[in-house]
Amino acid sequence: MNKILFTVTILLALVSPALAGDQCAECHEERIGEIRAKKVIHSAIEDDACEDCHESHGDDERLVLVEEGSALCLQCHDDPAEGKVVHEAVTDGDCIDCHDPHSSDKASLLVDAVPELCLQCHDDPTEGKVVHEAVSDGSCTDCHNPHSSDQGALLTEGIPDLCSQCHDIPDEMNSLTHTALSDGECTDCHDPHSTEFSKLLIDKYETTRFPGGFSEEMYPLCFQCHESSLVTGGPEDTNFSNGSKNLHNVHVMGALKPNRYGIAKRGKARSCSICHSPHGTTQPFSLISKYVHKGIIFLTMTYTPSEDGGNCTVGCHKPQDYNRTAPDPRQGG
Ligand code: HEC
Ligand code: HEC
Ligand code: HEC
Ligand code: HEC
Ligand code: HEC
Ligand code: HEC
Ligand code: HEC
Ligand code: HEC
Ligand code: HEC
Ligand code: HEC
Repeated sequence: MNKILFTVTILLALVSPALAGDQCAECHEERIGEIRAKKVIHSAIEDDACEDCHESHGDDERLVLVEEGSALCLQCHDDPAEGKVVHEAVTDGDCIDCHDPHSSDKASLLVDAVPELCLQCHDDPTEGKVVHEAVSDGSCTDCHNPHSSDQGALLTEGIPDLCSQCHDIPDEMNSLTHTALSDGECTDCHDPHSTEFSKLLIDKYETTRFPGGFSEEMYPLCFQCHESSLVTGGPEDTNFSNGSKNLHNVHVMGALKPNRYGIAKRGKARSCSICHSPHGTTQPFSLISKYVHKGIIFLTMTYTPSEDGGNCTVGCHKPQDYNRTAPDPRQGG
C-alpha cells in the first residue's frame, strides 16, 4: 500500500469517529436502523461512535465490550451510587438491567417505563384495598431514587418532609403533637403504598363516635404502642382516673349502671377519636378542641389540667373535673 494513503487512512480513523460507525454500518446497517428508529437515542450513539463501547471485532463474531458491567457506563457518567443507601439493583446488578445502552422509546433510555420496570423485581405494592394515590399514579420515583439516596428505603427525602411535599401537615401537628409524632415517623401508622384500612392506616382504628361497644380489635393501631389496660384495667393503669374510677373505662366501654332490674349494664361507648386526635392538637394529651363535621363545628372542648387531674368543659355537658388523689364526688370513685 502507498505509504501516504496508509497514513491518511490512519489519521482519518483517529479524527473521525463517524468512520468507525460507518465501518460497523457496513455489516450492521439493519441493527443501526433499528437503534435509530427509537424515540430516545443515547448521545453516545449520536455520532455513531460505536467504538466508545465496542471493540472492533474483525472476523471474530462476538460481542466485545471495551469495559464490563457498570464500568462501561462510568467512563462517561458520574457514579450514581454515591448516596449512603445504594439500590442493590445498582450494586449487584448492571446499569443495563434498567437502561438500554443504545436507544429506547422510554424516557431516560429505560428498558421499561416506571412502575413496570420496578415491578420486574418487586411485588406490586398497590395490592391493598386502599391505595395511596401517589402510588397508583405509578410514579415510584416521586418518592424513591432509583440509584441511591442518603435516606433509608432510597427515599428522595426524609419523612415527614417527603409527605409534606404533597400534604399540608395539619396546623395542629405543628402545635402540640402526639408524642408518637415527635420523631416524624408518619409510617408508624400509615403505609406509604397501600393497606386494608381507610386513610392508609396500617391497622384498624374505629372512628365511629358511638361505636356501640368496645373490643380491643377496634383500636389495634393504638394498642401496638399503648397497653389496652388503660381502658380495661383499673385506675392505676391510666392517668384519666378519678380516685378509684378509670375514666377511660367509663367513656370507651360505656358507664356501668344498674338497669331497672338492678343488673349492671354498659351505657354508651365512645371511640378514642371523640377526645383524641392521632396527630396532635393545641391542647395537652392530644385532646381535640372541637369536633367538626362537614365544615360545621358541632362541639367545642376546653381542657384545663390540674395538679392531679383536669377539667373538661364541653359544649354538650356541664364542666367536669377529675382528680386521681382527691376524687371529684360527681364522677363517683
Ligand atoms: C465485516 C462485517 C462486520 C463489521 C465491519 C462489523 N461486524 Fe459486528 N458482526 C458481524 C457478524 C457477521 C456478526 C455475527 C452475526 C450477528 O450477530 O449479526 C457480528 C456480531 C457483532 C456483535 C454481537 C452481536 C450479538 O448479537 O451478540 C456486536 C456487538 C458487533 N458485531 C458489533 C460491531 C461493531 C460495534 C462494529 C464496528 C466497530 C462491527 N460489529 C463491525 C460482522 C461485522
Ligand atoms: C454506551 C455504550 C454503547 C455504545 C455507544 C454502543 N453499544 Fe452496542 N452494546 C452495548 C452494550 C452494553 C451491549 C450489551 C447489551 C446486552 O448485553 O443486553 C451492546 C450490544 C450490542 C449488540 C448486540 C445486542 C443488540 O442489541 O443487538 C449490537 C449488534 C450492538 N451493540 C451494536 C452497536 C452498534 C452498531 C453501535 C454504534 C451504532 C453500538 N452498539 C454502540 C453498549 C454500547
Ligand atoms: C462515551 C460516553 C458515554 C458512555 C460510555 C455512556 N454514556 Fe450515557 N450519555 C452520554 C452522554 C454524552 C449523554 C447525554 C448527556 C447526559 O445526559 O449526561 C448520556 C446520557 C445518558 C442517559 C440519559 C438519557 C436521557 O435521555 O435522559 C442515560 C440514562 C445514560 N446515558 C445511560 C448510560 C448507560 C446505562 C451507559 C452504559 C451502558 C452509558 N450511559 C454509557 C455519554 C455516555
Ligand atoms: C433499578 C433500575 C436502574 C438501574 C440499575 C440504573 N438506573 Fe439509571 N435510572 C433509572 C431510572 C428509573 C431513571 C429515571 C429517573 C427519573 O426519571 O427520575 C434513571 C435515570 C438515569 C440517568 C438520567 C438522569 C440522572 O439521574 O442523571 C442516568 C445518566 C442514569 N440513570 C445512569 C445510570 C447508570 C450509569 C447506572 C449504572 C451504574 C444506572 N443508571 C443504573 C433506573 C436505574
Ligand atoms: C433488576 C431488579 C430490580 C429492579 C428493576 C428494581 N429493583 Fe429495587 N431492589 C432490587 C433488589 C435486589 C433490592 C434489595 C432486596 C430487597 O429489598 O428487595 C431492591 C431494593 C429496593 C428498595 C429497598 C431499599 C432499602 O435499602 O430499603 C426500594 C425502595 C426499591 N428497591 C425500589 C425500587 C424502585 C422504585 C424501582 C423502579 C425504579 C426498583 N426498585 C427496581 C432489585 C430491583
Ligand atoms: C408516597 C411516596 C411513595 C411512593 C409513590 C412509593 N413509595 Fe415505596 N416506600 C415509601 C416509603 C416511605 C417507604 C419506607 C417504608 C418504611 O420505612 O416503613 C417505601 C418502601 C419501599 C420498598 C422497601 C420495602 C417495603 O415495602 O417497605 C420498596 C421495594 C418500595 N417502596 C417500592 C416502591 C415501588 C415499586 C413504588 C411504585 C409502584 C413505590 N415504592 C412508590 C414511599 C413511597
Ligand atoms: C407525590 C405526592 C405525595 C406524596 C409525596 C405523599 N402523598 Fe399522601 N396522598 C397524595 C394524594 C394525591 C392523595 C389523595 C388525595 C388526598 O387525599 O389528599 C394522598 C392521600 C393520602 C392519605 C389519605 C388517604 C385516604 O384514604 O384518605 C394519607 C393518610 C396520606 N396520603 C399519607 C401520606 C404519607 C404518610 C406520606 C409520606 C410517607 C405521603 N402521603 C406522601 C399524594 C402524596
Ligand atoms: C399515631 C398514629 C399516626 C401517626 C404517627 C400519623 N398519623 Fe396520620 N392519621 C392517623 C389516623 C388514625 C388518621 C385517620 C383519622 C380519622 O379518620 O379521623 C390519620 C389521617 C391522616 C391523613 C388524612 C387526613 C384526613 O383528614 O383525611 C393524612 C393526610 C395523614 N394522616 C398524614 C400524616 C402524616 C403526613 C404524618 C406524619 C407527619 C402522619 N399522618 C402521622 C394516625 C397517624
Ligand atoms: C408508634 C407508637 C404509637 C402509636 C401507634 C400510638 N401512640 Fe400514642 N403515644 C406514643 C408515645 C411514645 C407516647 C408518649 C409516652 C406515653 O404516654 O406512653 C404517646 C402518648 C399518647 C398520649 C398522651 C399525650 C402525648 O402525646 O404524650 C395519647 C393521648 C395517645 N398517645 C393516644 C394515642 C392514640 C389515640 C393512638 C391511636 C390512634 C395512639 N396513641 C397510637 C406512641 C404511640
Ligand atoms: C372522654 C375522653 C377520652 C376518651 C374517649 C379517650 N381518652 Fe385517652 N385520655 C383522655 C384524657 C382527659 C387524658 C389525660 C389524662 C391525664 O393525664 O390527666 C387521656 C390520656 C390518654 C393517654 C395517656 C396515658 C394515660 O392513660 O393517661 C393515652 C395513651 C390515651 N389517653 C389513649 C386513649 C385511647 C387509645 C383511647 C381509645 C381506646 C382513649 N384514650 C379514649 C380522654 C379520653
